[in-house]
Amino acid sequence: MIGVGGATPLPVLDNHALSALVDTSDDWIRSRTGITQRHLASSDVSLVDLASEAAQAALVHAGVATESVDLILLATSTPDDLFGTASLVQARLGAHNAVAFDLTAACSGFIFGLVTAAQYLRAGTYRTVVLIGADILSRWVDWSDRRTCILFGDGAGAVVLQADATDQLLGFELRSDGRLNHYLTLGYEPDPQTLVESVTIGQGKFKPIFMNGREVYRFAVTQVPEVIEKALFRAGLTTDDIDWLLLHQANQRILDAVADRLGIPREKVISNVSDYGNTSAASIPLALSEVVANGQIKPGDVVAAAGFGAGLTWGAAIFRWH
Ligand code: UT7
Repeated sequence: MIGVGGATPLPVLDNHALSALVDTSDDWIRSRTGITQRHLASSDVSLVDLASEAAQAALVHAGVATESVDLILLATSTPDDLFGTASLVQARLGAHNAVAFDLTAACSGFIFGLVTAAQYLRAGTYRTVVLIGADILSRWVDWSDRRTCILFGDGAGAVVLQADATDQLLGFELRSDGRLNHYLTLGYEPDPQTLVESVTIGQGKFKPIFMNGREVYRFAVTQVPEVIEKALFRAGLTTDDIDWLLLHQANQRILDAVADRLGIPREKVISNVSDYGNTSAASIPLALSEVVANGQIKPGDVVAAAGFGAGLTWGAAIFRWH
């Protein structure tokens, strides 16, 4: 990983303003989640806009020319185009030598993307990869559902990965369990339409996000420490070797609970959930871009990153910041 960048839309909705929309309060949201505000994309902002801005920033940070990008991976659950949005990002960047495709693993998308990118790099197939995590969940939230609308925000983050003699992905563990899919969904609901006699199709629409918060919370605080420990084991490291714990920014209470279970002190926990809420696939690279920009993370630091969310999917990756 040799460069990182982030992008967030400008309009900010704080908890006080949100309390005018649904029956909630700043106090409830802050004490249950740690969130104070979220950035939301206006109707004239596209996923391509946010993803391209983050990718461009990461390329500049890495000092890598756009023409040398071999692969663009876009982790998202909220594409502009269901056929794929990564190629639109490729066109926007002018990365004409790259191949680009989307990858969907909800809030685990960045971690799944990181491991996918590493396989191409290790195999020698590609030399330079841009991995983007970007989501505009505000378009899929039911803004009358106080159990979910308080949580989410929009944004994008990106990293540039390059094949290197010293492999910086030290260990990983990816998991999914479709039996638990119903805890967190953004599902398609077909509406039967008869075209001609005996031919009925299902042209419906996607329903807003549904979440069983308590179950997802329970799942996160039990499963995430386990995959981090497995990834550490594969890396030949222990929790004492971790300089930074970089979790999907879903809820401050989850960050704290996972750190406590692993015995990692709070000062090693990276958190920006207060300012952005849960930005899904964007949350890990967005938080990384902030701590790199403010100099908290130093070259050589070991980062334990983990994502979790719909699918259900979850996974951890231990890497060394270049
Ligand atoms: O990226 C995907 C991963 N997603 C997550 O990580 C989310 C995981 N889950 C959570 O973060 C938490 O479950 C929530 C923050 C969503 C909810 O916190 P909680 O402490 O689990 O609250 P709860 O769902 O148990 O609800 C407690 C009470 C309920 O009232 P009753 O039934 O006890 O009378 C809710 O109706 O709080 C009520 N409530 C609210 N009150 C004020 C639920 N949402 C709100 C709200 N404002 N926004």
